[in-house]
Amino acid sequence: MVVERHEPDFEYIRRLVHERAAIVLEDSKSYLVTARLTPLAEREGYKSLRELVEMLRTQPSYSPLVKSVVEAMTTNETSFFRDIAPFDALKNEVLPTIIKANANRRALNLWCAACSSGQEPYSVLMSIREEFPALADWQITFHATDISSEMCERTRKGVYSQLEVNRGLPAKMLVKHFSRRGMKWQVKDDLRKLLNVREVNLVQPWPPMPPLDIVFIRNVMIYFNITTKKEILVKMKKALRPGGFLFLGGAETTLGVDESFERVPYPNASCYRLKD
Ligand SMILES: C[S@@+](CC[C@H](N)C(=O)[O-])C[C@H]1O[C@@H](n2cnc3c(N)ncnc32)[C@H](O)[C@@H]1O
Repeated sequence: MVVERHEPDFEYIRRLVHERAAIVLEDSKSYLVTARLTPLAEREGYKSLRELVEMLRTQPSYSPLVKSVVEAMTTNETSFFRDIAPFDALKNEVLPTIIKANANRRALNLWCAACSSGQEPYSVLMSIREEFPALADWQITFHATDISSEMCERTRKGVYSQLEVNRGLPAKMLVKHFSRRGMKWQVKDDLRKLLNVREVNLVQPWPPMPPLDIVFIRNVMIYFNITTKKEILVKMKKALRPGGFLFLGGAETTLGVDESFERVPYPNASCYRLKD
């Protein structure tokens, strides 16, 4: 069964996903509902997608089934060192600046919001380990969060297929920071234990975190409308330490959304700071 864009089932799912995760499903994305929810319906023992939607309509809004549907409608595309330029900016400019600013405190607070299956926070950690050995005795807090419990579990485990490690991970980092697990690779414990992984829905209250020096919130705000983007940036202003850096995805910007941020120009990287 294909859910057409004007069908009540599509409208129902669209509203549900927007209410729960702020994700905007465009009309042109109606095929995603069919593609992502049909396997879920089968797994949960429903005869059809329509039957699943009928059941959803009877459920309280925080039921496990509603949660599974919302999670299934998220896009979890990611890779190690995705887009590479932000990681060059991190290594060459951002971390040296923060290290200088925090030299007395010897502490570094990071957050990867919407971290999907964890390649992004592990890329940041590997950059720190490779390039800044002096940080080994700093106090590092690193929150890695996503709305999806499945993605959080994947991040915690840090297990990746050969195909996933082939996407963006330099061979020397694979050898140094991963152990073989049958046909897969697992991030070594010393890196995994640095991540504090938890479920956080960006449009619900955020957990307490220390003032943040560096935040990666990449390739998630593209799914939100302008009102939601504004709300998130208002919260981000409070979460960032003055002088802290915000990394967005290549198609995302604070410009025209919240003028308290300014773009810090690095080649091909979208990095922002609060204006003085
Ligand atoms: C395309 S991935 C981006 C992953 C990574 N940041 C990157 O750039 O490679 C988007 C992630 O945002 C998460 N997400 C979607 N809506 C969210 C929300 N309301 N709160 C928190 N995470 C959300 C999804 O579960 C998904 O893992």
